Amino acid sequence: MSQTDFDIDRARRETRGCGTIIHFNNAGASLPPAPVCDVVHQYLQQEELQGGYEVMEKQAEALENFYAASARLLNCNHEEIAFVDSATRGWSMVFYAFDFQPGDRILTGSAEYGSNLTAMLQQARRLGVEIVFVPDDAHGQIDCQALKEMLDERVKLIALTHVPSGGGLINPAAEVGKLAWYAGIPFLLDACQSLGQLPIDVNRICCDILCGTGRKFLRGPRGTGLLYVRKKWLDKLEPPLLNHHAAPLLSASSYRLRDDARRFECWERHYAGQLGLGVAIDYALGWGLESIATRIATLAGRLRTELQLIPGVSLADLGLKRCGIVTFYTDQLAAGELQKKLAEKRINVSRVPFSANPVQAEQRQLPELVRASLHYYNSDEELEYFLDILGSLLKNA
Ligand SMILES: Cc1ncc(COP(=O)(O)O)c(C=O)c1O
Repeated sequence: MSQTDFDIDRARRETRGCGTIIHFNNAGASLPPAPVCDVVHQYLQQEELQGGYEVMEKQAEALENFYAASARLLNCNHEEIAFVDSATRGWSMVFYAFDFQPGDRILTGSAEYGSNLTAMLQQARRLGVEIVFVPDDAHGQIDCQALKEMLDERVKLIALTHVPSGGGLINPAAEVGKLAWYAGIPFLLDACQSLGQLPIDVNRICCDILCGTGRKFLRGPRGTGLLYVRKKWLDKLEPPLLNHHAAPLLSASSYRLRDDARRFECWERHYAGQLGLGVAIDYALGWGLESIATRIATLAGRLRTELQLIPGVSLADLGLKRCGIVTFYTDQLAAGELQKKLAEKRINVSRVPFSANPVQAEQRQLPELVRASLHYYNSDEELEYFLDILGSLLKNA
């Protein structure tokens, strides 16, 4: 589909929030589309009127769609999918399942998400594992040649953030996956910011474990996420926390772990959210991930080009290939002040806190960044309005 074929009017019509706000905080949480909100509202109404357990039974088939839709999205089997309440929960349930020994190495990159790093640091302290940062190449993405040279028998996990929270970088996940695959090392991909804005096929990327969240580029409800675990790793990874959904009791003194990825789940969950995330994934698939990626890249490319023309604005995005997350800082106004002034004009942007990308923040020592993260439903007119307002705020600062 060419960009002129992209039905932007339909996308905006089906995004009720477009009528009230210019939302450039899709890397925080996207405006969900009407079909997602409608199904969640209806489900909650049914719970209100009929009872939570009763609705769950009646809607069992519709709720199951989350697994099938996720499998279609990632090109995997539905048994390799777990429903989680956040990307962090999914990531850590699997990370803490690895039986690391003192001296084992975890390879990661400079874009690693703060929460993942916290967990790695805890295991380093507890177990004596070593966290080794693969250097960046000249474009600021993970250096695959350096990674290749670092692979040896000490490496027990490669953990990579595909797209960082705080910038436009797209790490070359498929190249990393190939190296991991040939070396027989598990590859854990944090796809929190890439899921829904880029096509992701777990077999093409060769990742063994992947986590993502519902609320960002997938446009699902908050408090939802998904976890993918490749079948061959399932029986090697015992979840750090068990319950009788993950491991049904056989008797008062024994249980049996589930064979599928639901061994990483809890029984209780946000059922309306699960239904909504399934609908959001189908909705994204309806647009087509290739089309979405092209549309976002076109918008973000235009924004970067135009931002560079505004005096005092410095772009901060790294990477050879870039996504819809555009970061910058200005000589005139600090990020927080700018965010506030833009909000007064009904424009949502966000800032990049240290905790989002601690390694890059330490390495780069930049001022706090403004993050304008675009989705396919954002329009050229919104970009123009934003650029006008930004230009005049900076001129008058
Ligand atoms: C790259 C990345 N990974 C993980 C997360 C955590 O996602 P969640 O809040 O769903 O746990 C975020 C959230 O911003 C993120 O940007």
